[in-house]
Amino acid sequence: MEVKVAKTAGFCFGVARAIDSAYRCAEETDTKYATLGPIIHNAQVVLDLKEKGIDAIDSLSSLPPDTTVIIRTHGVPRSIYQEMEDKQIPYLDLTCPFVKKIHTLVSKHFHEGYQIIIIGDKTHPEVIGINGWCDDSALIIETLEEAEALGNIEKPVCIVAQTTFNKNIYKKIIFFLKTSCQNPTIFDTICNATDERQAESQVLAGQVDAMIVLGGKNSSNTQKLYQICKSICPEAYCAESIDALGDLSVFQNKRVGITAGASTPAVIIKEAINKMENQEKDFATLLEESLKPIFTGDVVTGTVIEVGPTEVIVDLGVKQDGIIPASEISDDPALTPQDVVKVGDEIQAFVVRVNDVEGKITLSKKKLDSFKTWDAIKAAQENGDILEGKVDSVVNGGVIVTYKVFRVFVPASLANDRFLSNLDELVGKTVPFKIIDINERRKRVVGNIKTVMIAQKQELEKSFWESAEVGKKYAGTVKSLTGFGAFVDIGGVDGLVHISELSWSRIKHPSDVVSVGDTIEVYIKDIDAETKKISLGYKNPLENPWEIAKSKLNVGDVVKAKVVRMLPFGAFAEIMPTIDGLIHISQIANKRIEKPQDVLSIGQEVDVKIVDIDWDNKKIALSIRALLPEEPVAEPAPAEEAAPAEDDMPTSYSDGGTDTIGDAVEAPAAE
Ligand code: F3S
Repeated sequence: MEVKVAKTAGFCFGVARAIDSAYRCAEETDTKYATLGPIIHNAQVVLDLKEKGIDAIDSLSSLPPDTTVIIRTHGVPRSIYQEMEDKQIPYLDLTCPFVKKIHTLVSKHFHEGYQIIIIGDKTHPEVIGINGWCDDSALIIETLEEAEALGNIEKPVCIVAQTTFNKNIYKKIIFFLKTSCQNPTIFDTICNATDERQAESQVLAGQVDAMIVLGGKNSSNTQKLYQICKSICPEAYCAESIDALGDLSVFQNKRVGITAGASTPAVIIKEAINKMENQEKDFATLLEESLKPIFTGDVVTGTVIEVGPTEVIVDLGVKQDGIIPASEISDDPALTPQDVVKVGDEIQAFVVRVNDVEGKITLSKKKLDSFKTWDAIKAAQENGDILEGKVDSVVNGGVIVTYKVFRVFVPASLANDRFLSNLDELVGKTVPFKIIDINERRKRVVGNIKTVMIAQKQELEKSFWESAEVGKKYAGTVKSLTGFGAFVDIGGVDGLVHISELSWSRIKHPSDVVSVGDTIEVYIKDIDAETKKISLGYKNPLENPWEIAKSKLNVGDVVKAKVVRMLPFGAFAEIMPTIDGLIHISQIANKRIEKPQDVLSIGQEVDVKIVDIDWDNKKIALSIRALLPEEPVAEPAPAEEAAPAEDDMPTSYSDGGTDTIGDAVEAPAAE
């Protein structure tokens, strides 16, 4: 047997809304309710509501005292509202909004002088209600013959239809009325839900061998659905429940279609599907499955069978499916059901409400997650476990750390391992913490970040000193800068990178090279386990300009140089980035000069010859004179005015700790 079920089978929007509200009313203890007429055409629902304290009354005259009237989806004539207001009877209006709209249209056109025509069943409560909005003056027709019998109508005509009327018959009647009435004003008020249900059932009836229409005998839309199915599929049945059909073996080896009226509870449809599909199963299994009780407060496990934008349907292995409303899927409002689960997932959820009549088990994953988190928090306090959360905000006296769905208060004195004058800098950070206090009743939690941070730091320090050695590399984080260097956290301990270690070129301040928060690669240059002082290296030896110069510069080379500094004994000139050489005063010109400025100026580019290189002491001697023709000697300079010899010259002039230049040339002080 193959079973196909119409997607539109069962409660429509209006009925679902009314039933939901009625059951909520049944939970109220301080107000009595009664429905004016059966809430829907389904005896099971009506009986269930009666057992829960909501009886159905025929008229307002039989309303028990101090009782609120529930107006059902069909709506009522205007006179009923008038009577309730006159007698000051409280009421809850559950008229379907689509029916309400018809009342408004009819009332308006009636007062504008139109003759109202209602296409519908004159005995149906909805039609009686609509007629009550034009002082019961409507002409009510249900067949083409009745339309033909209307004859000539003098007044302008306004036509509406019962929301559940058969669409095909409606079209025929309208076609006729358009010709028989002058410019009729027509409102197609057949409800979309009815329309879609009828259209889908019509298609389904054409695809199967037998069609089952589930719904009440008094339900007009069910009967119309049955007529439609019967006209397409001769083996069509209409029943209030699957049991009313008796022996199901007649359906064996057939394709069976199932549809249902707008007031048929889901449980009846589900039961029919189960019974049709499980005919092969042994009785004991079926009984066990269908009787497995589920109660509010249970935690259940099921399989996701449908994920929609507003809810997730879960197969719980019992006759009713579980429904998780979108709002109960996750505590993160930005997530949709599709973000959290997919069809086929196994899911655990908390049972919020069980409604056998509606065939609904309302579930919450969010609640179960919250219970689990609370248990985890309690266990963490007992075991001293460390949890992780995000600092959400600063409040009076401390900060709030979010741990899943719970807010943990951390006093300011316990919010960090060092004093913070402004707790705002913690906001947004993920922090470790321990639970130090719980108020079970008020679900309040107090945490401590400080002790966890201190313990973690001590642990890191211990493991650092166990493995630290000169030359070992670390990825460190720059924590602070001073004029003499940068302090870098290399995993629980801080080391200093001296300013001279930050760059091969001269820099004024460490911030020229690094910023607080930067991650940089450093290595241990020196370590003192006793004083716990660590000096770090940062410069890459491969970028050492002196090493690069070795492969490029040779004695005798003639190169371009830029004068960068002048002193009484000579001028320093840059021959490669960060590599300067000294042009001794005696090597600046081919004649005697008083001072370098007599010939050179800062920034001037000159050709120089490399006359000597001392790689060990990083000294390069340059000469301009060596490139010039020799001038005749005028007169020897007095000995005391001679330029200082090499040993008297500075070997360093860097203010940033950069390796320096000097002059290794035994140049004559003067000629
Ligand atoms: Fe309303 Fe349409 Fe249902 S009119 S009661 S939603 S069939």
